[in-house]
Amino acid sequence: MISKSSIDQVFETARLEEVIGDFVQLKKSGSNFKGLSPFTDERTPSFMVSPVKQIWKDFSSGKGGNVVAFLMEHEHFTYPEAIRYLAKKYNIEIEETERTDEQKQEADERESMYLVSEFAQKHFAEMLWETELGKAIGLTYFKERGFTPDTIKKFGLGYCLDQWDGFTKAALDQGYRLNYLEKTGLTIVKENSQNPGDPRKFDRFKGRVMFPIHSMSGRVLGFGGRILTNDKKAAKYQNSPESDIYHKSKVLYGIYYAKQAIAKEDNCFLVEGYTDVIQLHQRGIENVVSSSGTALTSEQIRLINRLTKNITVLFDGDAAGLRASLRGIDLILEQGMNVKVCTFPEGEDPDSFAKSNELEEVNRYLADHAKDFIQFKANLLAKEAANDPIKRAETVRDIVNSIAKIPDGIKQEIYIQECAGIMNVSESVLFSTLAQIGKKNQNEASKKPAREEKAFDVVKNDATVEKVDVQYELERKIIEILLLYGNNTENFEDLVLKESEEGDLILEPESIKSKVYEKIFLDLQDDEIELANEHFRSIYYKLIEALNQTEDFKLSSFLSGLDQTMVAEVSSIMMEEEKYTLHNWERKDIYPKGKKIGVAQLASETILTLRCFLIKKRMLALQSNTKESVEDNRETLEEIMNYLHLNKLLNKKLNRVLS
Ligand code: CTP
Ligand code: MN
Repeated sequence: MISKSSIDQVFETARLEEVIGDFVQLKKSGSNFKGLSPFTDERTPSFMVSPVKQIWKDFSSGKGGNVVAFLMEHEHFTYPEAIRYLAKKYNIEIEETERTDEQKQEADERESMYLVSEFAQKHFAEMLWETELGKAIGLTYFKERGFTPDTIKKFGLGYCLDQWDGFTKAALDQGYRLNYLEKTGLTIVKENSQNPGDPRKFDRFKGRVMFPIHSMSGRVLGFGGRILTNDKKAAKYQNSPESDIYHKSKVLYGIYYAKQAIAKEDNCFLVEGYTDVIQLHQRGIENVVSSSGTALTSEQIRLINRLTKNITVLFDGDAAGLRASLRGIDLILEQGMNVKVCTFPEGEDPDSFAKSNELEEVNRYLADHAKDFIQFKANLLAKEAANDPIKRAETVRDIVNSIAKIPDGIKQEIYIQECAGIMNVSESVLFSTLAQIGKKNQNEASKKPAREEKAFDVVKNDATVEKVDVQYELERKIIEILLLYGNNTENFEDLVLKESEEGDLILEPESIKSKVYEKIFLDLQDDEIELANEHFRSIYYKLIEALNQTEDFKLSSFLSGLDQTMVAEVSSIMMEEEKYTLHNWERKDIYPKGKKIGVAQLASETILTLRCFLIKKRMLALQSNTKESVEDNRETLEEIMNYLHLNKLLNKKLNRVLS
């Protein structure tokens, strides 16, 4: 463990602008630095570093924080990794707090299990490199597979001697407790009826080469052990059992070594086995992980989703398991990720292919053969069912099922169009199948006990990891506009509902002069909108009140009347003021209108966007809320129609504001 005083020293010494300067080209801008966001692909700089406050903010991705937060975001370091990195950069000697025997005992169970696993990894590696048998059997095996010494060391590979309890004895000798050896599954403990006080102990991985499995931050969680004999009765791989530190469904083999490359390449290759990961990595393709032979889980996909939206699944040449594996891919689609698949020539897998081809060839192969998943599946199914009408019907359902998993409606539509072509069916058939499936899913969902939901409650769907909370951002923006420009008097361009001479309702453009805060307040009142975020709501009412009472509104006196959490909230918003000089206005200044009109535009845009957003949400809630009785349904329908009209109206207004 890193001592507290070392951590303090690191924070005192590190200069944020220098640390970030190693990754981002920064230019002085007033008292700050600015540069292109390292987290998005942008042309105009929206990344700000404040040397005074020692904080950074990336306005295009919304990320921000201190020096450690930057390293954790950008380099995907863990907290201790970031501290160590900074210590190295600034030549600070890290003081580790030593563990006494007493502390060792006190360390919690999980920590003990981590320590035992770490010891095991070191022990197996030592057996591989330092013992005659290890070298002759284990090391020879890895070398025959084409792994270089560097690769073997990097992945921490090892060998468990072919003895009943060689490892267990060594661990016990070092003071590791049997309890934890058993809990991690490294040792199998069997009661001994002849001698009850002294159970028999066996090494689980006896005679196997060892692949340690690491967490995202590089801790050893468990092992896979491959047998070296051709014993048909024994399983080829033994794996650590589930334990408090090893949850198979939440781990991806290789993620620790791949995370940076995944983020950098903005793509993750997914393979079947340990050896595929290592071989590709050694070949120079480092953005690769494996689910270790088991079916992919949504937790595993979430691990990847944090780093990239793009997955390429690599399949072995033998087509046997292909159909079954395709199903698992729907899970990836559900999380809104883009999936490609790539198959290898007959008899080849990523391991053998990477072993016998140069990097350039492997890269070219991957580039040429990676196909969009939906297209790939449609092609495959279309071929299979070509001359079989019954099978064709099934096939249509199958492919639409996959499309139905995609959260993005626009993407769905594009896929429907493409698949219609590939499978030679009409788009309308596919669309109606999609609607049927959608309804079925909804019915199933509505059978589950529904969570109580307030009208404008933010719907959080766990399966689709939404990066931005639209409503939150919009509400925050409203507060920001009030804080910065609340007292400005502006000309608002609006469309106003009027009665024509014929008595029809028509929309007419009108320019209305108003204080910004009044406009915001009245517009929100129109829809009876309450800000959903509790802090924002409370600041909002305080602000409206303050603006309404005093002709010259002063931020400092406003702040002094707020409690601490609110002050923090408001100052964090105020810190972003820079973005208007740097992001929006810079561009808007190109227009001859100038700054003042910009404020009106910004305010209208924000309110209208929020109103549209809430209405859409309300409609969605109504649609999924299919009622029992026809009468109730009619009411719901009417309500939906009303919202549709309102939505159209708001969109018209929004278009006007934007144009
Ligand atoms: N696997 C497993 N248990 C088994 C068989 C396979 O856990 N009994 C997992 C391993 O993670 C393995 C992956 O499934 O890496 C793929 O299986 P396979 O292709 O048979 O293994 P490879 O690693 O390719 O092994 P090898 O090439 O050495 O035969
Ligand atoms: Mn293999």
